[in-house]
Amino acid sequence: MEAAGERFPKQRQVLLLFLLLGVARSGWEPRRYSVQEETDSGSFVANLAKDLKLGVRELAAREARVVSEDNQQRLHLDLQTGELILNEKLDREELCGPTEPCVMHFQVLLKKPLEIFRAELLVRDINDHSPEFPEREMTLKILENSPNGTVFPLKKAQDLDVGNNNVQNYVISPNSHFHVSTLKRGDGRKYPELVLDKELDHEERPDFRITITALDGGSPSRSGTAQIHIVVLDVNDNAPEFSQKLYDIQVPENSPIGSLIVKVSARDLDTGINGEISYSLFYSSQEISKTFELNHLSGEVRLIKKLDFEAISSYELDIEAYDGGGLSGKCSVSIKVIDVNDNFPELTVSSLSSPIPENSPETEVALFRVRDRDSGDNGKMICSIQDDLPFLLKPSAENFYTLITEGALDRESRAEYNVTITVTDLGFPKLKTEHIITVLVSDVNDNAPTFTQTSYTLFIRENNSPALNMGSVTATDRDSGTNAQVTYSLLPSHDPHLPLASLVSINSDNGQLFALRSLDYEVLRTFEFRVGATDAGTPALSSEALVRVVVLDDNDNSPFVLYPLQNGSAPCTELVPRAAEAGYLVTKVVAVDSDSGQNAWLSYHLLKATEPGLFSVWAHNGEVRTARLLSERDAAKHRLVVLVKDNGDSPMSVTVTLHVLLVDGFSQPYLPLPEVSAEEAPAHSLTIYLVIALASVSFLFLFSVLLFVAMRLCSRNRARAAWVGRCSVPEGHFPDHLVDLSGTGTLSQSYQYEVCLTGNSRSNELKFLKPAFPNLLAQDPERETEGNPNFPKSLGI
Ligand SMILES: *[C@@H]1O[C@H](CO)[C@@H](O)[C@H](O)[C@H]1NC(C)=O
Ligand SMILES: *[C@@H]1O[C@H](CO)[C@@H](O)[C@H](O)[C@H]1NC(C)=O
Ligand SMILES: *[C@@H]1O[C@H](CO)[C@@H](O)[C@H](O)[C@H]1NC(C)=O
Repeated sequence: MEAAGERFPKQRQVLLLFLLLGVARSGWEPRRYSVQEETDSGSFVANLAKDLKLGVRELAAREARVVSEDNQQRLHLDLQTGELILNEKLDREELCGPTEPCVMHFQVLLKKPLEIFRAELLVRDINDHSPEFPEREMTLKILENSPNGTVFPLKKAQDLDVGNNNVQNYVISPNSHFHVSTLKRGDGRKYPELVLDKELDHEERPDFRITITALDGGSPSRSGTAQIHIVVLDVNDNAPEFSQKLYDIQVPENSPIGSLIVKVSARDLDTGINGEISYSLFYSSQEISKTFELNHLSGEVRLIKKLDFEAISSYELDIEAYDGGGLSGKCSVSIKVIDVNDNFPELTVSSLSSPIPENSPETEVALFRVRDRDSGDNGKMICSIQDDLPFLLKPSAENFYTLITEGALDRESRAEYNVTITVTDLGFPKLKTEHIITVLVSDVNDNAPTFTQTSYTLFIRENNSPALNMGSVTATDRDSGTNAQVTYSLLPSHDPHLPLASLVSINSDNGQLFALRSLDYEVLRTFEFRVGATDAGTPALSSEALVRVVVLDDNDNSPFVLYPLQNGSAPCTELVPRAAEAGYLVTKVVAVDSDSGQNAWLSYHLLKATEPGLFSVWAHNGEVRTARLLSERDAAKHRLVVLVKDNGDSPMSVTVTLHVLLVDGFSQPYLPLPEVSAEEAPAHSLTIYLVIALASVSFLFLFSVLLFVAMRLCSRNRARAAWVGRCSVPEGHFPDHLVDLSGTGTLSQSYQYEVCLTGNSRSNELKFLKPAFPNLLAQDPERETEGNPNFPKSLGI
């Protein structure tokens, strides 16, 4: 009771004290009533009149009333019936909360006399609230591998009801890992604990949800649920594991720097930092760390240095993978370098002899070595040179070759060879190296100088100035250097009579020929000699050529009159019968010119006549004929001046004076008189002259035969002195083989030459003699007109 009274506020305490005094006075035990919460208002609670053993009227008379301690009029006393009625619905949870039992104290107050009865109303609980978890979802983080039986306390559910209506039990949804146990705390409240039945595996199931249900003990029972989110925390329980224990890699040696060799990969089933893998080389030699680079994160192994099969052909790498928790795994990478044909063949010349002398037989020119740093077929080589060169390759030892000449070389046809040695390996693709060896061929004096012509003909005009350059001869030498230095010289003449040294000289350096003295066509028309060209090699080689000098004629001789003789000592008078017809041949002026060609082409003109018109001179042949019939009136003596002129550029001429005597007949003897004074020519003078002419021709013929015989003797007999004395020209010593057909000076000399000539060419004998007797062979008109009257050899008498 006291405990109950203390619950009320102060002013109520005063009243309570007062009441207690009254109760004490009255001495009543409190009356107890009970009512279920949530009972409807107006419901009957108890019959007070009966309990207080008072009549209904007395209650009314004494103004009975119900006073509750909190002054709330929850109860009402019906004075008509004396029954205690609920004034309102009572909510136990509101009135008492969790306090159990829930008792409401009240008093029944009576006046006159004042009387107080104490009473209690017990409000009984009903199950009108469900258990409720503080959160709809709870998160529970649990390390994987937590041992069996580990307990995880859970937040309890709350139920406003009390006693049995409060939470009595927890259950969870079926699962393979947990069960729930319901425990009771000191205050009697029940709370759940989750117990692990089976270890969790993060890798298997990182999280899941279960449902917990709280049940109260009411009838019917009420329940409340919540979700438990189980998060399985990872534990580093897995070591990284490589997908392959051994990586077998083949890498071509020419892989570029930076190329990917292999990507190793390890797996870690853990998550988070426990699953973070980093790679490192477990063991690395200096060579490996210089050659490869491992990416710690990606596991890529890349090349950082050129591979060289020839240096290192394989690598072994051990790679480790660590996870964040410190667990590790290992793998091996075996890298085999594949040979690639990346080395060019190399060629080293060990010895080279150049230049090599031409004409030397098979000669070793060069010795060289070839090498290929690749292996297998990539390192096998083939050596070759151009086909079109006179060289051969000969293997001499392993990888040694000699370059030799096929035979003698000729510097003059080719002085330099570029021999390209090609070394090709057998790899794929083929690599080749070319090396050019320049072989020089040195000169040997194997070529004599050669004249540009085998014979030279030089033309020189007579009367040249001395030391005239006549021309030159040239010889070339196909050798080189001193072997090609040509020196010219005059070779001794075959003809000992040719005064060569006084005629010509040669410039030994350039082959220019000079005439040393003035030449005379009429003396020497042509001559030949040999020149030599010698090189400066050892031994020296030489060759020779023939030089023929032809002297060209100049018009330097005036015509020479053979007939009639002009040296007044033997004056000549032609006799012409007065009966001669017109055109009668009086005489013929015979002249020669020791020049030749045009210069000896003579023409005859009548320059002066005692009686113009009586005689005419034929320009071509110098025949003097009567132009008309003679008459008695014509004077007996006539003097004719005939001009004989050559046809040279600057013509030269001579005049001939003829004396003509007109006679009546050849029967009249004619006496040649120094001064022809016969007024009349005898009629028969012609006959007399014919006889004289015949006699002189016969004499000349005999003379010729004699000379011919003498010439024959001359040629048989080599005792030349006598012969030369008779046959040679007075002013020169010309050998008989020289061609000199010119007439010189006198008729007799001219004949001497002609006879000398025929001595060497008998077949021409008559031919030469024939034109010597034009009158005897008589008046062949064809011959007169066709024959070149000025042909120098056609002498007429
Ligand atoms: C935990 O319980 C499960 C199932 O009962 C059992 O298989 C496992 O071996 C237990 N583990 C331990 C560590 O006792
Ligand atoms: C050889 O080669 C050199 C240098 O390249 C060149 O000057 C010369 O003309 C070549 N000779 C021949 C014969 O090809
Ligand atoms: C005239 O000339 C000829 C020939 O030259 C000669 O034989 C002759 O003796 C000469 N006569 C006189 C008189 O000089």
